[in-house]
Amino acid sequence: MNPRVAILLLCVFVCVSDAFHRIAMQRHRHRKLPHARHLWASRKHIRRKFGVTAAVATTAAAPQSSSSTTSAPSEAIEPLFNAYETQFYGPCLVGNQPFTLQFDTGSSDLWIPNANCSTCIKTCGNAVFQAAKSKSFVANGTAFKITYGIGKVSGVIATDTVSIEQISIKNQGFGLVSQTDTCSSFDGVLGLAYPVVSLTEQKPPFYQMIEQKLVDQPIFSFHLKSNTSDGGSLILGGSNSSLYHGSLTYVNVTQQKLWKFTMDYIGFPSRKCRRCNGCNAIMDSGTSLLVGPTEDITQLNRKIDAKYNSTNGLWEVPCARITHLPVLELGIAGKKFLVRPQEYIIAYEDNVCISGFMDLAGINFWIIGDVFFREHYLLFDVEQNRIGIARAT
Ligand SMILES: *[C@@H]1O[C@H](CO)[C@@H](O)[C@H](O)[C@H]1NC(C)=O
Ligand SMILES: *[C@@H]1O[C@H](CO)[C@@H](O)[C@H](O)[C@H]1NC(C)=O
Ligand SMILES: *[C@@H]1O[C@H](CO)[C@@H](O)[C@H](O)[C@H]1NC(C)=O
Ligand SMILES: *[C@@H]1O[C@H](CO)[C@@H](O)[C@H](O)[C@H]1NC(C)=O
Ligand SMILES: *[C@@H]1O[C@H](CO)[C@@H](O)[C@H](O)[C@H]1NC(C)=O
Ligand SMILES: *[C@@H]1O[C@H](CO)[C@@H](O)[C@H](O)[C@H]1NC(C)=O
Repeated sequence: MNPRVAILLLCVFVCVSDAFHRIAMQRHRHRKLPHARHLWASRKHIRRKFGVTAAVATTAAAPQSSSSTTSAPSEAIEPLFNAYETQFYGPCLVGNQPFTLQFDTGSSDLWIPNANCSTCIKTCGNAVFQAAKSKSFVANGTAFKITYGIGKVSGVIATDTVSIEQISIKNQGFGLVSQTDTCSSFDGVLGLAYPVVSLTEQKPPFYQMIEQKLVDQPIFSFHLKSNTSDGGSLILGGSNSSLYHGSLTYVNVTQQKLWKFTMDYIGFPSRKCRRCNGCNAIMDSGTSLLVGPTEDITQLNRKIDAKYNSTNGLWEVPCARITHLPVLELGIAGKKFLVRPQEYIIAYEDNVCISGFMDLAGINFWIIGDVFFREHYLLFDVEQNRIGIARAT
């Protein structure tokens, strides 16, 4: 028997209350280390996710965050797992069935694998949803299709109760995936961007939490951890000032679709390299690296003496050189935010070190991914449409 299956079965009998967290942990441990080439493969999908052909905005309603009155209900502190420094995800229940989800500020849909997704089960080993086992399940049947940095998924829309820690959202619309072309460490995705870009045309879970008065404040915040399978946490409905140094610097969202803002610059001041003088950027927890226009990325990679490998399309750095590389600086809202080379270089077990600067020909904005999140506390305010940033503890 597959050891992973054995552990899952064991959990059913042994880890009653804690099953949830244990399952997610074990799942991670038994996955194969992804080859660095996955980073390259993700490029064409990132292009589709953000490029000219990407996600056409739908007619869904604008955010209604009328969180003003009444008693303060709650917040959920969602523990995250860190898979290879590039994938962060946490546990969740849909119709009382456990799944692991990536919390993605670069999309607005929730989806999980359906029981009839054979790739999800056989190839990816994901948990799948059994509609017949949920009393709160409501079928809808409308078809949907989404393209992400990690691949494509398609299926039908449905509604059920979705629980994250102690918060339970009633009648949450989501995608039930019956086809996927890529596997991930997590089962599904929970989008945290604005409702207008939802491709399933369902109100995103965080907006449901606000509407159903399940959270104290219309904010959520990420505290990612590096170099350990403990990936940190996501607080839905709050923040925790002991997880960052000093105070948050806020930058306004410039377009309420994704978490788009104006970045002052990015570069290596110590090596006289400064790119992007007031350019558009997107804060995206669902992208692993820092992605930008080809010319800028080439310049950054040259400054760290990374060598382009035309076989896999990635920029490689000798692992022994990491500690000699300069600190990266991002200018946002008049402040400097630093990223150490230990964070912007992704080290794989086979002594392959990949630069965290990835280009995407034709894009004219930057995607600020987990490389940045791993060193900074990020607060997303859906009412005041702003992002708070501080150095994480
Ligand atoms: C999977 O199940 C859904 C819902 O029951 C159905 O609409 C869809 O056609 C099925 N897809 C496949 C590939 O069997
Ligand atoms: C299915 O969902 C769509 C999109 O939210 C909605 O317009 C439609 O009315 C729903 N259909 C059913 C049968 O619930
Ligand atoms: C805030 O984070 C600190 C450090 O992890 C933790 O000890 C504390 O319990 C957290 N506070 C709240 C209110 O969650
Ligand atoms: C950010 O937005 C708020 C509210 O719309 C506005 O008052 C403030 O001046 C803006 N800040 C900057 C730096 O543009
Ligand atoms: C380039 O990448 C390929 C495939 O990952 C690898 O086999 C090869 O060793 C790399 N070349 C160099 C010069 O590092
Ligand atoms: C990860 O942790 C190990 C052991 O604590 C340490 O030697 C290493 O430098 C750390 N790596 C990074 C990238 O921080």
